Amino acid sequence: MRKGIALCVALALLLALTGCTGKQESTGDNASIVVGFSQLGAESSWRIANTVSMEQAAKEYGFSLMMENANQKQEKQIDAIRSFIAYRVDVIVFSPIVETGWDNVLTEAKQAGIPVILMDRMIATQNDSLYTAYVGADFYAEGRRAGEYLVRKADAIGAEHLRIAEICGTTDSTPMRDRQRGFMDVIGKDQRFEIVDSVDGDFLRSKGEECMRELLQKYGTDGIDVIYSHNDSMTLGALDVLESLNNPAAKDIILITVDGEKEAVEALKAGRLNCVVQCTPHLGPAVMKMVGDLKAGRELAKVNHPEEGYFSDFDDLTDPRVEGF
Ligand code: AHR
Repeated sequence: MRKGIALCVALALLLALTGCTGKQESTGDNASIVVGFSQLGAESSWRIANTVSMEQAAKEYGFSLMMENANQKQEKQIDAIRSFIAYRVDVIVFSPIVETGWDNVLTEAKQAGIPVILMDRMIATQNDSLYTAYVGADFYAEGRRAGEYLVRKADAIGAEHLRIAEICGTTDSTPMRDRQRGFMDVIGKDQRFEIVDSVDGDFLRSKGEECMRELLQKYGTDGIDVIYSHNDSMTLGALDVLESLNNPAAKDIILITVDGEKEAVEALKAGRLNCVVQCTPHLGPAVMKMVGDLKAGRELAKVNHPEEGYFSDFDDLTDPRVEGF
């Protein structure tokens, strides 16, 4: 709980720092500042909340937002970035669906003199000058938090051997890679834990359901002790399947999820999940503050992470600060 409450305080600080009170330094002609925003899709409640956050913050700052939704297709994101370059927008913001394959289009943006802010996800490149700044979660730290919760849980229940099935987010995306790496770095060398399977759920609720069915077919409820799922949408899909079984063994499975949307936090409070690692979708104010700073000629920090924590069945879940987005 301490970390969860710390998150609320830190987020309040972040909002204050980013001037998200609506009192941003409007010069009166902010509408002439055009932000080209390529959103990667609408795969989860997190993503939808993130899109809303970007739209609202752009409105508060008075910027003109040109938004394109790529419906989970990298080619569409590349096309959108090219159209922003052709339009000569002031700043390009995008949330890369996967890490690789951006160097060419970002070189074109650089040659056109348009700064690029990576929002939510990172890219893999040898050339860091292709983007001006990154703002988004520290996914590796999120994975570590999931692992730390599991170690604490195993200690508390005196478990000697726990079989873990991992439901992963979109292959080669930053949250998938880093949530997996962080988790493994915590539990990997502890003999009590065994990863029996890692399956791709693409951050979708429907795929979370599918994955859960497949896992049950392969291992049965008795062959899985822990589900570590990389986002709430997939977790809630998996939970639907587990609860439809009406089987007490399914209820004993320890469920760890990431994001912190309302439905997941309510499920935690109701004892249907065990741990919710937080990942805030409310990145819009920080992004728009950066756009304003860039236009004012100020330097941006290269990497900007919001503070995050986790809620779990070890916490006092009646605390009003335990809430989802
Ligand atoms: O990149 C952030 C991740 O993407 C969120 O955890 C997930 O819900 C979303 O789809």
